[in-house]
Amino acid sequence: MSKAPKLRLGVNVDHVATLRNARGGSNPDPVRAAKLAIEAGADGITAHLREDRRHIRDEDMARLKAEIDKPLNFEMAATDEMLRIALATRPHACCLVPERRQELTTEGGLDVIGQHDALAPAIARLNDAGIRVSLFIAADPKQIETAAKLRAPVIEIHTGTWCDAVAEGNREKAEAEWQRIVKGAALAYSAGLEVHGGHGLDYDTAEKIASLPEIVELNIGYFMIGEALFVGLGDTIRAMRAAMDRGRGL
Ligand code: PXP
Repeated sequence: MSKAPKLRLGVNVDHVATLRNARGGSNPDPVRAAKLAIEAGADGITAHLREDRRHIRDEDMARLKAEIDKPLNFEMAATDEMLRIALATRPHACCLVPERRQELTTEGGLDVIGQHDALAPAIARLNDAGIRVSLFIAADPKQIETAAKLRAPVIEIHTGTWCDAVAEGNREKAEAEWQRIVKGAALAYSAGLEVHGGHGLDYDTAEKIASLPEIVELNIGYFMIGEALFVGLGDTIRAMRAAMDRGRGL
């Protein structure tokens, strides 16, 4: 790859809704956060409608689609219910993720090998509707090769294991995970996939992963929503943008 393309920042607003739901009212509003994020430089908004509606709710997704003027990335499990909602909402993109009720967050990547036959028709329906499908997978060569065969145009590499190892100070594991991401991004790019990254990223890990030219989008939520409590959402997004630009060598 000659020159790294611009790295887009997708801001995940799930945890604004987590805070709102803690009291059951309407504040803080994830749609207001999304608009502020866009004003501060976000290139898109991501939200995950979970089966248990623990944070984002159906009406949030509908309002995000209606009220924001940047691409909406609808994260979801590939269930019939979510497929029906996504096809009615018509977001710019759908990121298919695994989902288990008991998990605190999306804990692992989608097993596109094991679930190939269930995923193929879901991907085809979204493709036919003109919605850009992204598969959230680990940087595993076999998963990446299968993702390419499933005809999804995009993969999002799960960066959570790497970020956890960095946060724990486990250098050996962090280095091994980083090398997996480096190789996975190159393999996916050479297979013709658009490559995104996300989960657990903070300023330092976002800066580092921005150095990989194959990766064109990062989706980041939890760290930024937490950081926003201290410095505000606008400043957090500008600082994240600056970290990504530094990593990109801009
Ligand atoms: N990308 C995907 C596919 C996710 O499921 C999540 C978490 O909802 C994120 C990115 C953002 O992760 P985090 O909130 O840890 O930044």
